[in-house]
Amino acid sequence: MVVRTRVNGVWREADVWPGTSLLVFLREALGLYGSKNACEQGECGSCSVLLDGSLVCACLVLAAQADGHDVARPAGRLDRGAGLAARPGARARNGRGATAGRRRALVRGVL
Ligand code: FES
Repeated sequence: MVVRTRVNGVWREADVWPGTSLLVFLREALGLYGSKNACEQGECGSCSVLLDGSLVCACLVLAAQADGHDVARPAGRLDRGAGLAARPGARARNGRGATAGRRRALVRGVL
């Protein structure tokens, strides 16, 4: 089914399976990685978005329920991750830096 939502003021649409969650729709169908995928059980809130101004866990809402509605990140930066995806070097550098820092901490016995 085609789902059409207004994300941070811009209408976006994608053809998805009817059981697709809003979180998967945003991340995988639209390439907007600002909402994080962690527990997928409504426990952590890392996927929180505003659906017509109401705070919801995007992992618990069907994309079909957002069809024709407004979706926004609480901080208003739902597409921030897409910018990083467009610059793969930035994401890779951040990931390597964090891993290297943790590895150094482990070697020193900090963690
Ligand atoms: S991913 Fe944890 S509440 Fe949605």
